[in-house]
Amino acid sequence: MKTAVGAVILGLSMLLVPGILLADEVFPVDRDLYPWYPSLVRWEKTAAEFHPPAVCADCHRQQFEEWSGSLHALAFVDPVYQGELQKGIKAVGRDIARQCEGCHSPAAMVTGELAKSKFGKLSKLALAGVSCDVCHSVSGVTHQQTPSREPENGSLVLAPGRADGSLVKRGPIAPPAACGGGFHDCAESSLHRSSDLCASCHQVLHFDKHFPLEATYQEWKGSVYAQMDIGCQDCHMVDTATFLRSSAFLKPERAEYRHFFNGANYLLYHLAQAAALKSGDAAAAQRFARQYDMAVARLQAAAQVEVLPTYVAGQLVEVRLRVMNLRAGHALPTSLTNVRQMWLELTVTDETGKVLRSSGKLDPQGQLEADTRLFNSDGMGESMHFAIDPWVVIGFSRHDTIPPHGYRDVVYGLQLPKGVETVNVKARLRYRQADQKVAEALLAAVPADINLKAIYGLERVPQLPVVDMAVTSAKLAVQR
Ligand code: HEC
Ligand code: HEC
Ligand code: HEC
Ligand code: HEC
Ligand code: HEC
Repeated sequence: MKTAVGAVILGLSMLLVPGILLADEVFPVDRDLYPWYPSLVRWEKTAAEFHPPAVCADCHRQQFEEWSGSLHALAFVDPVYQGELQKGIKAVGRDIARQCEGCHSPAAMVTGELAKSKFGKLSKLALAGVSCDVCHSVSGVTHQQTPSREPENGSLVLAPGRADGSLVKRGPIAPPAACGGGFHDCAESSLHRSSDLCASCHQVLHFDKHFPLEATYQEWKGSVYAQMDIGCQDCHMVDTATFLRSSAFLKPERAEYRHFFNGANYLLYHLAQAAALKSGDAAAAQRFARQYDMAVARLQAAAQVEVLPTYVAGQLVEVRLRVMNLRAGHALPTSLTNVRQMWLELTVTDETGKVLRSSGKLDPQGQLEADTRLFNSDGMGESMHFAIDPWVVIGFSRHDTIPPHGYRDVVYGLQLPKGVETVNVKARLRYRQADQKVAEALLAAVPADINLKAIYGLERVPQLPVVDMAVTSAKLAVQR
């Protein structure tokens, strides 16, 4: 009866306000399936509770130490995230917070803690972000039922245990008899050996229009790595040497998996290390320093640049730089492509060192030259204007990343003065987390509970560090 009345009202209002309902019809949302929409996380609520990582650490010391140096441990306390979250709530309203929190701290979102408590009063579980009990409670995914019919916005099911309150932790191994040490039961889960576990959170879609803002999983799924059974875990849950082997299509041994979740965000490891040193936690500082080194090594393994000259009638007329994505299992760069910056710097000099052509230089304020060749994207809002914030961006006006195992060529025309016989070409592929002004704006939005000076020793935003991912040079004859 209730549904019949509902259908009539729905029918009537469709006649009255077709725009609103049509918008709904494009991506219909099953509100019973997704009670926390715009987050698509589900929770099988029983007497079984979530536990903070410190509890797991008693028996899983190594996993704990590795995870606690990772961005999953920082996903909620990340000041950049907190700043952007506050901006989002101001712009669209409190409801959008669920979308963000469903990926950045899902356990405390579903229990309602995040909606109730202020930052300074939150439990260890809430602050732990993407914690042990998030991943090891995942009992399934709803990738086919989402509004976009694809993994998105946290489309996973959290089931920390059974109706009687007993705990079940899911993982990659067939449970040995004494599994769980009396604290929990174990269940073997093939999902935990698959990229599908990571997919729900590494596909960030616009909260309402379902536009894929970050599409790391889909990029991977369409890649040669997926075809060769090399998944997210094989490159991100291993040390650097094993990652290099995985990227050559050799699957790691079971004992080689580690909880580093190491990616590209060296800046955040750097900030976290500064905070750990300030609070006197030398062991934590060391963990972040290790992750920083791993992230830089990963970026430097990811790509290669080649210099290819073009001669017309025996005369050097252009240099072509070929940028190859050698070892990223997805596009390069991936995820926040409209914020990350990866660009080419070119310097052509004559025999005396005089610069004849250059591109992609940073000025002293940290701004890039206007003609710089960037590999990333520009987001656009509903009136097709340039936009950055994820609740505004509903499309890309430019999207230029390098496909997995693919390359892009960039051509630089040369008009060389008479008398020059050879030129030196130097090329660098450079990377940073964001444009200097964007980073300054993000950190300016950090809520007052996070005192950047007291926690990180930051008085103002320093010039963002740049990592040289690949450096190459060549000496070319001008005539041949
Ligand atoms: C982002 C998801 C994620 C988080 C967070 C996470 N794990 Fe895991 N964990 C996995 C995956 C995936 C595997 C399986 C890797 C493989 O194929 O061996 C795993 C494996 C394990 C195993 C099996 C043995 C091993 O190390 O391979 C244990 C035990 C474990 N995790 C405990 C923990 C603890 C304790 C924490 C928190 C300190 C934690 N995990 C955090 C995803 C996660
Ligand atoms: C589907 C899961 C998901 C949702 C929903 C989501 N995020 Fe994220 N977010 C991520 C992932 C994954 C990354 C890491 C991407 C990377 O490192 O490039 C990230 C990174 C970020 C970063 C960059 C952090 C840094 O230090 O560079 C910010 C800021 C951020 N998210 C804010 C938000 C806000 C605000 C919302 C809600 C409007 C939100 N996110 C919703 C998964 C999500
Ligand atoms: C009292 C000790 C103890 C505590 C506390 C504990 N575990 Fe375990 N856990 C074990 C033992 C023992 C195993 C068997 C395998 C092993 O030795 O790593 C195990 C295995 C696992 C596995 C592998 C399951 C599989 O089938 O692949 C996961 C995942 C796991 N634990 C997660 C957790 C998480 C998450 C927590 C915290 C909420 C936790 N454990 C707390 C003792 C414990
Ligand atoms: C063949 C190895 C490989 C596989 C497989 C792989 N990655 Fe990566 N990933 C990399 C490398 C190398 C980088 C650093 C370069 C970059 O940023 O793309 C990276 C970077 C990242 C970043 C950080 C992006 C940024 O700019 O901040 C995220 C997030 C990420 N990967 C998630 C995933 C997920 C999720 C999967 C599975 C769907 C996956 N990766 C599969 C190698 C891999
Ligand atoms: C519950 C949601 C969730 C799940 C599940 C999840 N992630 Fe993440 N992941 C995040 C968020 C959120 C961030 C970004 C934290 C930040 O920057 O503030 C992140 C960050 C990362 C990074 C670091 C990216 C960088 O820029 O350096 C890597 C690597 C990564 N995840 C890999 C994985 C892999 C591999 C899996 C599956 C085994 C996985 N994630 C599962 C939410 C998740």
